[in-house]
Amino acid sequence: MAKAKRNTLYVCDNCGEEYIEWQGRCNVCGEWNTIKEVRMAASTSSYGSSSSTYSGKSNIEPKTLKEVANIHSTRILTGIKEMDRVLGGGIVEGSLVLLGGDPGIGKSTIVIQMAASVKTSKKILYVSGEESVAQIKMRADRLGLVNDNIELVSHNVTHDIEQLVYTNPDQYGLLIIDSIQTLYDPSFPSTPGSIVQVRENALRVLRLAKDTGIPVIMVGHITKEGTVAGPRTLEHLVDVVLYLEGDSEKDLRVLRGVKNRFGNVNEVGLFSMEENGLVEVVNPAEYLLKERISAPGTVLGCVLEGTRPLLVEIQALVSPSNFGYPKRTASGLDLNRLNILLAVLQKRAGVDLSSHDVFINIVGGLKVKDPAVDAAVCVALAGAYKNKAISDHVCVIGEVGLAGEIRTVYKEKQRIKEIEKLGYSVVQKQKDLKQLTGLLIH
Ligand code: TYD
Ligand code: MG
Repeated sequence: MAKAKRNTLYVCDNCGEEYIEWQGRCNVCGEWNTIKEVRMAASTSSYGSSSSTYSGKSNIEPKTLKEVANIHSTRILTGIKEMDRVLGGGIVEGSLVLLGGDPGIGKSTIVIQMAASVKTSKKILYVSGEESVAQIKMRADRLGLVNDNIELVSHNVTHDIEQLVYTNPDQYGLLIIDSIQTLYDPSFPSTPGSIVQVRENALRVLRLAKDTGIPVIMVGHITKEGTVAGPRTLEHLVDVVLYLEGDSEKDLRVLRGVKNRFGNVNEVGLFSMEENGLVEVVNPAEYLLKERISAPGTVLGCVLEGTRPLLVEIQALVSPSNFGYPKRTASGLDLNRLNILLAVLQKRAGVDLSSHDVFINIVGGLKVKDPAVDAAVCVALAGAYKNKAISDHVCVIGEVGLAGEIRTVYKEKQRIKEIEKLGYSVVQKQKDLKQLTGLLIH
């Protein structure tokens, strides 16, 4: 009997798992009633029709490395230096860039600013499924942006957008999709933003970029957990993944490259969210240390963000607990790391904070994962506890091991160079935490 051709598939809206038959509950994510019927597009079903049996000739031709012509990856400068740095020197033609971030963090702001400053003589097509063209214009006016080459479209049906671009691809130098969660393909029964819609539409946008050579910036919202139909599912198919991070109550925004097929990853760009949009932070030290004070519990540390060493002010506050269970709060630092450092301080340096509430803050809004701040955090905690300060002309660097030893940090030379350039000196490397906290004076 000939094999029946399947042209329907059942896909879970929540996690994207595929089934050949409908069922009430998804085996993978456990959600009820999320499995929807999906009719496969004609192009997908014709996939097997080319030749299922060997006909004596293959229609694919492998090439040796020598035969493959070099693609000249022409890059277009966005006109925003911090963004170009993260992209690895501008945006490559035909590339698909995913710009992820929490809602309200400033993604639409940065893309409209980029649309206005991008160095292309062609048109920039800004497709928004979230805002009306009048709203976008209002924002652009408020930001004082002028560029007659920007064309605005408020639409969300992918097919129509494709038609618009394919009709005259040469006129566009950049395409902005804000956001992938609003794109909609009516041939799938699920709603915009569901896994199926996000995945299928992203694939179509990718094809559009590759077919036309137009670079595309695609905005994607992400939840804190990064799970709900978020850009995480798209990371593997796009060329570049950028995340805009920050605290919505603070001004600092960090644009971080986490994947880049055309350049360095882990490069960061720093911005400040001001009245007139995102402003590049040209001098990070001045920005991060602008209100620096000298007091017990305040210590200068150095973190490496991408390839850049940045000086940060670390503040600690320690006060006796009123309740049995002491409170630990960390802003900008991982709470688990703080707990480890507190244990090491108690055990190896005799600074016992087990009956004290502890608060730690990385001033300026930077979220620090670099273990090179361990030593500075410990000095800040010990200083706050003993009410003693360390000289305000010094910067403390060093990773703290569980035995209380101070370890060398990654790219130490580069950090020291930056610290000295800014007029501070590096605390001489100490053997262990006990010696280091012994440097506290007054
Ligand atoms: P937006 O770019 O709309 O965020 P997203 O697209 O990531 O959801 O930015 C929204 C926030 O940014 C909003 O809360 C207000 C703030 N903002 C400013 O502070 N200054 C500005 O000039 C602009 C345009 C926005
Ligand atoms: Mg937006």
